[in-house]
Amino acid sequence: MKTVKTILEVRNQVQAWKKEGYSIALVPTMGYLHEGHASLIKRAASENEKVVVSIFVNPIQFGPGEDLDSYPRDLDRDTILCENAGANLIFTPEVSEMYYVDALTTVSVNGLTNGLCGAKRPGHFDGVCTVVSKLFNIVLPDKAYFGEKDAQQLAVIKRMAHDLNFPIEIIGCPIVREEDGLAKSSRNNYLSSKERQAALILHKSLTKGKELLSAGEKSAKLLKQIIKNELESEVLAKIDYIEVVDALSLTTIDIVDKPILVAIAVYIGKTRLIDNFIWESK
Ligand code: PAF
Repeated sequence: MKTVKTILEVRNQVQAWKKEGYSIALVPTMGYLHEGHASLIKRAASENEKVVVSIFVNPIQFGPGEDLDSYPRDLDRDTILCENAGANLIFTPEVSEMYYVDALTTVSVNGLTNGLCGAKRPGHFDGVCTVVSKLFNIVLPDKAYFGEKDAQQLAVIKRMAHDLNFPIEIIGCPIVREEDGLAKSSRNNYLSSKERQAALILHKSLTKGKELLSAGEKSAKLLKQIIKNELESEVLAKIDYIEVVDALSLTTIDIVDKPILVAIAVYIGKTRLIDNFIWESK
């Protein structure tokens, strides 16, 4: 496995692979990789001959006051994880390699980005769509892999790839959890041991929600209330949002009569965590 820092090196390597007839996968990441990323890389390696992992903490998807400067980084550890998971190339550019200082172009997806994290993090999805478009154009993969933990991001990128005719299959992979249910996230690293315990409330509250749906409840309002009550039982948790939306359009719904996405964002201390599940109505 090789690690490169320039666009030219990626292009040359991918071109050589394509000449050999190899299929190419891209797994875009911001580094500080965990088992969730490993599952994306392993899946990519099982479905493609060559896997490129990009590691780039993308400054333009962070808002003012967010954690850009403190975002955890550890390239040595990431390199081992990538190698073990079956990656063939790491692309880890500097900011100056990715962004021209006089760049004037931003990629925006409308509508799908209005609610959920889009409402709470203005400009975030423009930053994500812009960097992912650039990575798609740099790597020119056949398939690209994203985690379902960022459910809105996955929906937005699928739509962007469709609308802009990227000839790339976008593949979503299931959330990977710790044994006690906490969804794996690079941001879990910020949690003190007390906060780590408190963070279990995200998964617990969603489990309560699932139980209610399994019992046949159809009211989105009631579903949100049950999740809210559970989250409020944890003193260290501060709710950012609880949303019940149509799984495809991401618009809010009142009655659960089609596939829905139940998504939450919760501050545990200063750390903002997200979690979700998809419910296919019977
Ligand atoms: O999900 C992430 O880690 C990032 O949003 C992504 C897709 C790598 C773009 O910077």
